[in-house]
Amino acid sequence: MTATVITGLLPILIYFWPAPPKGQKQGRITVTLGTAIDQMQDGIAERILAPTSPNSAFIMRDGGGDNAAGDLAFGGFVVKNKGKVSVLAQNCSHLGCSVAFNKDRASFDCPCHGSRFHLDGTVQQGPAAYPLSNLDWKEGQTSKEIQIEGLTLGF
Ligand code: FES
Repeated sequence: MTATVITGLLPILIYFWPAPPKGQKQGRITVTLGTAIDQMQDGIAERILAPTSPNSAFIMRDGGGDNAAGDLAFGGFVVKNKGKVSVLAQNCSHLGCSVAFNKDRASFDCPCHGSRFHLDGTVQQGPAAYPLSNLDWKEGQTSKEIQIEGLTLGF
């Protein structure tokens, strides 16, 4: 009975589901770095924030725990690790607090419950059980710019 009601109502619910706010647009968000990509030192991460004018967010490519592909992140880190540059979301996979770069330990540390992540985003110490999420990115117009997949929220 319940399944029949849900099956019958589903098309109606989908039809009336609210549309995304006007002006919301998915695409590449340009972020300007303090250090050019080709000048970054190995083992160093640079914090980045999604632009606020207009309000924007980065879109996670993958995830686990509290994070999932398609979730939004309002900040992250560009990190060079063993010669490879990657861009990670700042959201801890345990319960979503923002991690901080610990230069002395070359790790990302969560202030909430003590999780620690390696520079490649993998877990070094729990309680987090999943790595940090990756953000899709590509080089921008200049060596100090990168373009990250994101969402312009339109407000
Ligand atoms: S939210 Fe990061 S360790 Fe709990």
